[in-house]
Amino acid sequence: MCGIVAYLGGRRCEPILIEGLKRLEYRGYDSAGLAVLSPKGLRIERAVGRVANLEDKLERLGGLDGALGMAHTRWATHGGVTEANAHPHRDDRSGICLVHNGIIENYAALRTYLEEKGHKFHSETDTEVLAMLVGELYEGDLEHAVQAALREVTGAYAICVICEKEPGVLVCARKGSPLIVGVGSGEYVVASDPSAIVAHTTQAVTLDDYNVVKITREGFRSSTIHDVDVTPKVMQLELDLEQIELGSYSHFMQKEIFEQPKALRNTLRGRVDLDEGKVVLGGLSNFGKDLVRARRVLLTGQGTALHAAMIGRYLMEDVGKVPATAEYASEFRYRNPLIEEGTVVVAVSQSGETADTLAALTEAKDRGALALGVVNVVGSTISRETDAGVYLRVGPEIGVASTKAFTGQVMVLTLISMFLGRRRSLSGERGQMLIEELQKLPDKIERVLEQDRTIRRVTERYIERNNWLFLGRGYNYPVAMEGALKLKEISYIHAEGMPAAEMKHGPIALIDQGMPAVFVANKGPQYEKVMSNIAEVRARGGHVIAVATEGDEHIKTVAQDVLYVPDCPDCLSPILTVVPLQLMAYHAAVLRGHDVDKPRNLAKSVTVE
Ligand code: M6R
Repeated sequence: MCGIVAYLGGRRCEPILIEGLKRLEYRGYDSAGLAVLSPKGLRIERAVGRVANLEDKLERLGGLDGALGMAHTRWATHGGVTEANAHPHRDDRSGICLVHNGIIENYAALRTYLEEKGHKFHSETDTEVLAMLVGELYEGDLEHAVQAALREVTGAYAICVICEKEPGVLVCARKGSPLIVGVGSGEYVVASDPSAIVAHTTQAVTLDDYNVVKITREGFRSSTIHDVDVTPKVMQLELDLEQIELGSYSHFMQKEIFEQPKALRNTLRGRVDLDEGKVVLGGLSNFGKDLVRARRVLLTGQGTALHAAMIGRYLMEDVGKVPATAEYASEFRYRNPLIEEGTVVVAVSQSGETADTLAALTEAKDRGALALGVVNVVGSTISRETDAGVYLRVGPEIGVASTKAFTGQVMVLTLISMFLGRRRSLSGERGQMLIEELQKLPDKIERVLEQDRTIRRVTERYIERNNWLFLGRGYNYPVAMEGALKLKEISYIHAEGMPAAEMKHGPIALIDQGMPAVFVANKGPQYEKVMSNIAEVRARGGHVIAVATEGDEHIKTVAQDVLYVPDCPDCLSPILTVVPLQLMAYHAAVLRGHDVDKPRNLAKSVTVE
């Protein structure tokens, strides 16, 4: 969603801010803007659309001078996509200027209060209200004015604030929305995402909720909104530039699909003990006893993460030997859930910042559940709010369509289910077999990736079709859902994913001549049943594209197109069967001429409920 980057130091900040905004583009946005405090005063420029539009505008204006500034990409929440609503926003009295991620929930009441005091608003945003409030409370000290304003605010925020009257000061703060302060030599780069910082420094200070940081060239001070000193938490950003650059790939999504073998080798590294047939998860080691006593595992997430959680549910019961459910975090939170003693909640999230997932996690914790995180971004809010967890270690995921995070999530959930299972009734022998098979998966994914051209050719054949079905059973029912989601989000083709057996309870009415139906039809326990469902589609004129197991010749007699994956145990098959579906979605989007990494209306991490 929205992105923030700010700079204070000795260099001209405009190019640094623009480069930072470009690195944040993947998060999804609809307008951009920047403010620079120059010796001549405060300059704010904004533009609707891409960062490139803002860049063009700045070029036409001859650029902005100044070594203190901040910039923002906005994903509209309050108010339409207009230049007036784009950030930065300023107040009307004290020279305050502000960028903001998150939502100020009590903005309407604050706006009324400020209007009564005579303030005039120029936008429909909650952010302008916050800028005005800081201005209203300003008495010559920006840090104190920000603290005072934030004491009046409910909601979520990551903000950076500057003031014309204090040209060497940058103040930032956070609650519920990420923000980190990159500390370079004699300069600071503040951003909502490490990718906008690592080109300048890998030393960073993280902010906890309700922390305020005042930065000057001489140093910085961390405090709370109540002005109590806070000891800063310094961390090393584990990110290098190569990881966030495209290299020889055309899109980040493509790069990340092809990175999966390497990423999953990383996920597994040091976490399995083949001799004992068990897994070693440092992040869970202090909770072994609680997990043995667990009576129920509740997995939750949104979007792709939910699909991984659904596979996790099967794994927890089949391998982990514990009853399990999986559900949308957004639904869990508001249904007044009953949490019995011994419930373990597992929050699955790439970004670790998804508002719905975070809210569900908090709800489950408040009701007494042990909270585990399956998260990619180290130090993210969910990873900090959980009692324990296991990181994906798949590296930064930039493409809005989640790919390597999905296979990483399924791999980690497999490891957690084995961790549980070996403390229950999973035999050492089955543990060893699964570890051997897990270790073979990266090489097997490489074999699937080698079929990229075939997958593109097959996709091309159906590219004019506007309605697709994705069907699977058992472990591969969530894979069907994931295949449909991938196709929808980047190619804008309508697609439905469902359990193959559900089709005849209604959706079969959709099938007409030539409608593409993608079946995950690998050799699993339900293979024969899937064959019957394929026959039902063919009988009604549908075209079947099957993801099948290498060596299955029969499938060629029933499906128009076959994409093969290597054989593996059914419980691990989603890590292979999803790959052709990821590539199909990717090629469909490219063939339809869409911007794969910046799909319309979408944000990489959804930080509002
Ligand atoms: O960062 P998270 O894994 O919590 O994100 C959850 C969903 O928003 C995310 O998976 C979304 O569905 C992706 N765009 C799917 O490709």
